[in-house]
Amino acid sequence: MTLAPGYRLHTVAPSVEDYCALRLESGLSPKTAEQGEAAIAGSWAIRSVTAPDGNTVAMGRIVGDGGWYFLIADMATLPAHQGQGIGSAILDALLDEIRDRVPAGAYVTLTADPPGRRLYESRGFEDVAPGRTGMHLVLR
Ligand SMILES: CC(C)(COP(=O)(O)OP(=O)(O)OC[C@H]1O[C@@H](n2cnc3c(N)ncnc32)[C@H](O)[C@@H]1OP(=O)(O)O)[C@@H](O)C(=O)NCCC(=O)NCCS
Repeated sequence: MTLAPGYRLHTVAPSVEDYCALRLESGLSPKTAEQGEAAIAGSWAIRSVTAPDGNTVAMGRIVGDGGWYFLIADMATLPAHQGQGIGSAILDALLDEIRDRVPAGAYVTLTADPPGRRLYESRGFEDVAPGRTGMHLVLR
């Protein structure tokens, strides 16, 4: 997917401030700077996109073991920049990096919020098998 003129896809992480702002402003749950810093440092791969004015307007990252298990996380595009193919470009770049760096057979998982569902389905993601559901635990 080609980005609109002036938009640039980067293999570097957003700043911690931009990470927190992107989550918040795109409607994801807020995270502290401490959480953001560790999230960025612990990512297996990450992408950010800057707009023509140089501001960071989107991101996406992979938490992975480098062998076969990969979790797509923090897919976020600022509302004013959505619907221009930025999220698609980030997802494609992240999936290409898995294809390039690990043996075939990688398991790529994510939790699809409604805004991202169509994007993920267009790239081949499917619901987990009938009878299996995603589960989570948030430690207080
Ligand atoms: C999901 C998200 C990252 C997609 O980013 P994006 O830059 O808008 O992505 P794209 O422009 O490549 O669009 C991908 C799909 O998202 C949908 N979409 C994007 N922007 C939209 C908008 N403003 N209104 C409705 N649908 C939209 C479209 O279905 C689009 O598919 P299409 O091109 O086949 O119509 C973005 O919508 C977002 O940040 N949402 C809020 C945060 C969130 O929920 N993130 C986690 C998702 S699991």
